[in-house]
Amino acid sequence: MSKTIIVTGSTDGIGKLTAFSLAEKGHTVYVHGRNETKVDAVVSEIKTTTNYQDIHGLVADFTDLEAVSKLAAQIKKDIPKIDILINNAGIFKTKEVHNKNGLDIRMVVNYLAPYVLTNAILENIKQSEAPRIINLSSAAQAPVSEAVLIGKEQDSANSTYAQSKLALTMWSFNLAKQEPNITVIAVNPGSLLNTKMANEAYGLHWSPAEKGVDILLHLALSDDYKNDSGKYFDNDKGDPKGYFSPAHPDAYDEAKIKALLATTKTLI
Ligand SMILES: NC(=O)c1ccc[n+]([C@@H]2O[C@H](COP(=O)([O-])OP(=O)(O)OC[C@H]3O[C@@H](n4cnc5c(N)ncnc54)[C@H](OP(=O)(O)O)[C@@H]3O)[C@@H](O)[C@H]2O)c1
Repeated sequence: MSKTIIVTGSTDGIGKLTAFSLAEKGHTVYVHGRNETKVDAVVSEIKTTTNYQDIHGLVADFTDLEAVSKLAAQIKKDIPKIDILINNAGIFKTKEVHNKNGLDIRMVVNYLAPYVLTNAILENIKQSEAPRIINLSSAAQAPVSEAVLIGKEQDSANSTYAQSKLALTMWSFNLAKQEPNITVIAVNPGSLLNTKMANEAYGLHWSPAEKGVDILLHLALSDDYKNDSGKYFDNDKGDPKGYFSPAHPDAYDEAKIKALLATTKTLI
């Protein structure tokens, strides 16, 4: 059955390849990116290559939470039923560390933007018969410093990225409890996949990008995972495919999750 699927950050990397595969399978796909020209080019490329036309573009720079809210308002109006949201947009290296509001760009793009977008369009996601939200976490997960989260202190790229991914995972588990009718899964798609992010950050890769794409397609579409809400899938474990594993201990610490969400609400 054809599903309506939004993939954020699908102008490059595993998001783009995932959007391609979803189109090949005949789903209605929304490609999202920060740059309108790039979004239009990817939408055209998918349409031409797959000879399938139900592909649409969405634009918002996720460093800007006002732009995220505007995009959410547009989605609320234009896409009444969303079956699957893949929160994939992410950043590791960035020239500017802070956004115009003084928040660390990794925290904004990797955690606050998907938090704002998802919460704003929850009612549309709930219209689906079997809704799913897939949140792109990472093997890199580090305790979230409130000072880093609110932009008061700056940490290394490695540490801030890992903090943003643990924040996303903590919220993901909380969302699964809050919304028992939505399957919410956090996933490490595999470390050092062959994408712009890994190559820019480390100058090397360990695995083809397709390893991450395959698991995103599985988690999003397969019936195997419909009862795995509130879990973390680690694609570094196992071969060729990973399995559900424990995330960082903080992701199970109710007091820390409560504190994270309280601070998050003050920021948005
Ligand atoms: N690659 C890995 O080894 C690996 C490992 C673990 C987790 N992950 C996670 O997997 C996800 C995808 O990563 P990837 O490796 O495919 O990265 P990528 O090739 O760098 O692609 C990232 C995507 O996010 C978009 N993006 C970046 N900043 C944005 C912003 N400010 N606003 C809107 N969109 C923005 C990019 O847009 P542009 O096309 O405009 O750049 C691109 O479409 C990320 O969340 C990443 O943290 C990756």
